[in-house]
Amino acid sequence: MTHSGRDNWGSRIGFVLAAAGSAVGLGNLWKFPYLTWDNNGGAFVLVYLLAVVIIGLPLMMSEILVGRSTQLSPVPAFTKLGGRRWSGVGWLGVASGAVIQSYYMVIAGWSLRSFVQCLGWSIKGYVTPADGDFDAFLSNGSLQIGLTLLFTLFTAIIVYRGIGGGIEKATKVLMPALLAILLYLVFTTFTMEGRNEALAKIFIPDFSKLPREGFLEAVGQAFFSLSLGLGAMIAYGSYLGKKESIFKSALWVVVLDTIVALLCCIAMFTIIYSVPGLQNRISGSTIGMLFITLPDLFYTKMPGGILLGPLFFVLVAFAALSSTISLGEVTTSLLIDQKGWRRSHATLATTSVVFIGSILAALSLGASGILSSFSLFEGKEGVLSTLDHLAANWMLPTGGFLITLFVGWKLGRKFCMDELGLEKPNLAFTVWLWIVRVVAPAAVLILLINVIMGKDFS
Ligand code: PHE
Repeated sequence: MTHSGRDNWGSRIGFVLAAAGSAVGLGNLWKFPYLTWDNNGGAFVLVYLLAVVIIGLPLMMSEILVGRSTQLSPVPAFTKLGGRRWSGVGWLGVASGAVIQSYYMVIAGWSLRSFVQCLGWSIKGYVTPADGDFDAFLSNGSLQIGLTLLFTLFTAIIVYRGIGGGIEKATKVLMPALLAILLYLVFTTFTMEGRNEALAKIFIPDFSKLPREGFLEAVGQAFFSLSLGLGAMIAYGSYLGKKESIFKSALWVVVLDTIVALLCCIAMFTIIYSVPGLQNRISGSTIGMLFITLPDLFYTKMPGGILLGPLFFVLVAFAALSSTISLGEVTTSLLIDQKGWRRSHATLATTSVVFIGSILAALSLGASGILSSFSLFEGKEGVLSTLDHLAANWMLPTGGFLITLFVGWKLGRKFCMDELGLEKPNLAFTVWLWIVRVVAPAAVLILLINVIMGKDFS
């Protein structure tokens, strides 16, 4: 026990799985493939991978370091180490967490629908959905709210019970299961004719095809997918044992997260290029790609797909759940650590506030005209897309920018060396420190300034 009833993770693998549970989620399964598609492939993926290595890994280490050294959640952690002035970084993170949670619940709800749909197909046989099927589902307001509510309740129950309990155990089984199914998916698609086209699209960069905002979206996606820039890894880092290596822990999380995103993308693109008519079905709403493309594979090409279809969407729901839990933990632990609230009250309060946002997001997919046409950013129509764009591309990078400056300059060399268990600075440490001090914040700053000047922020 360390602080307010927290327990430490059983082991490094426990921490890695839980942190990877936070990182691996809809960002990898739902968002990465469709953003890659919308941004025309290769160049986007390359920028994404560079962002993961240059910004993601060093920032992940920084967040874990702050969390572990303070054993506190973000706002009190920043206050303790940097004084009141820095507590704003924690607050920004809490706000980002609440924004992300509100629309994330909606997408997570889709996995429940797909699960039920797959069960039906497994029992009664597969019927190819009509072209506008997914859009009709999106504009069914009461169904969207119902599914969102269900998912919100699942999350609240687990956040209420606290992290120590079942999460670590569940993740130990479910993460490997998800990875195994994804590998099998990719393996199955290897015999399909669209494979080469898919691989070329994903791995051969052509910068003339990357839209200007694509740079920001790629970097924003790196933050989003790795759960960085809002302090989620600070909250989890506070549970990592003192003897464990921060570098190795962070590296594992980053590698797992990236592998899952790429595997998923390869599988989906191959299916899209191989199955006639599929491009039409996703063209209007690439946002539904995950839920449109994979059933086709399960039920028409894949041995055992009848069993794996429903199972896969259970795993998607679980991956989403282990991410919403970490988001819930960021907001809830604030009320617990900072205001001394009981966990039950804190969970209820944050869940209720977030759910109001979720309702707006859920109705913005076609059910309500006003909410669907609401737009702050060029090309991002509707409350859901607006919140997503705002959080992933602006709030998280800004948070990340401030966290790197905080760790690099405010905490400084000596503090970091102690926390990383180094007596003398070695080359790797020096490289890391200068990335955190200069390279990562400069990259984010230049990008944001560029987009503001380029008037993407309309
Ligand atoms: N990383 C999660 C995903 O990829 C989303 C998330 C973002 C979770 C920020 C926590 C914090 O789905």
